[in-house]
Amino acid sequence: MRAAAFSSYGSPSVFRMMEFEDPQASSGEVRIRIKAAGVLPFDRRVRKGWTPPGLSIDFPVIPGNEFAGIIDQVGEGVNGFSVGDHVLGFTVLKSYAEYLVVNPDRIVIKPANMPWDVAGGFSGNGQGAHMALEAIGVGNGDTVLIHAAAGGLGTFASQLAQVWGASAVIGTASKGNHDYLRSLGVIPVTYGNGLVERIRELAPEGVDAALDAAGPDALRASMELVKNKERIRTMVSSDLAQELGIPSSFGTRSVARISELTDLYAQGKLHIHIRKEFPLNQAADAHRKIENGHGRGKVVLTVD
Ligand SMILES: NC(=O)c1ccc[n+]([C@@H]2O[C@H](COP(=O)([O-])OP(=O)(O)OC[C@H]3O[C@@H](n4cnc5c(N)ncnc54)[C@H](OP(=O)(O)O)[C@@H]3O)[C@@H](O)[C@H]2O)c1
Repeated sequence: MRAAAFSSYGSPSVFRMMEFEDPQASSGEVRIRIKAAGVLPFDRRVRKGWTPPGLSIDFPVIPGNEFAGIIDQVGEGVNGFSVGDHVLGFTVLKSYAEYLVVNPDRIVIKPANMPWDVAGGFSGNGQGAHMALEAIGVGNGDTVLIHAAAGGLGTFASQLAQVWGASAVIGTASKGNHDYLRSLGVIPVTYGNGLVERIRELAPEGVDAALDAAGPDALRASMELVKNKERIRTMVSSDLAQELGIPSSFGTRSVARISELTDLYAQGKLHIHIRKEFPLNQAADAHRKIENGHGRGKVVLTVD
């Protein structure tokens, strides 16, 4: 099979299209012919030399943490999935490829109304947002602050907070993304100097809970605006969080979590904007696209 992979760490230019043996589904596994794979900041960290916990890295590395595709092999003992099923799911690495073998406890059936590009970029940020909002206890009547609300993670978190009953979601973004946030039902606020004051104008008593997908300034602002530290989480600044006494606990990814999200999508309650899609052989350009940390929605690789 062909895959977008690298044999040294570094800039996006380390990507090459490489040939690998086709993986085969063993007992208890399925093989998926990949149609689309999301591009995440997680993949960028791997490309730059970070080793995800519990793994050891051997070159060449095929990154890719989320995917969608069609099952083309079903190993012995697998129940509930058949050849031809359209699925989406999660992995740690290896989805920037034509084929991926996974355990079926990492996939769900793709909703019929979900295009392949959305499906390929669905499970990583979707589950990240789900875990974070669960950890900060978002529920009925909450005013929730989401930093970096227009990004891949923020796009999911902004909408999910409303589905879970938040009465107001305030989201930070640059001016160019304010209309996008409004379209998601979010009250937009520009980040940068004076952020806390701008949010206090909207929420004089502060906010009930905050999710930081931006960085240290956002986390410090959250500390000023949220009374209960238990209701703050960061996806970015774990060292600062520890220093400030903000918990770092999150749940884990699961089929139950993605199923809730795919059900919401099927009901028209989640809208996922595709920032740009690239063919698999342009993985380097896809990484360049996420490299600057700005933009709205998801970057996705498509696989012919
Ligand atoms: N499962 C997960 O999704 C997960 C897990 C762990 C960590 N994270 C981390 O969460 C972060 C966001 O991920 P992502 O996938 O959403 O990235 P992304 O799609 O690249 O989005 C980045 C967003 O950050 C915004 N932004 C840039 N500078 C900002 C600032 N100073 N204050 C507020 N917003 C700012 C940008 O908005 P503008 O374009 O308007 O500037 C952009 O929309 C990454 O650092 C990632 O590593 C995600």
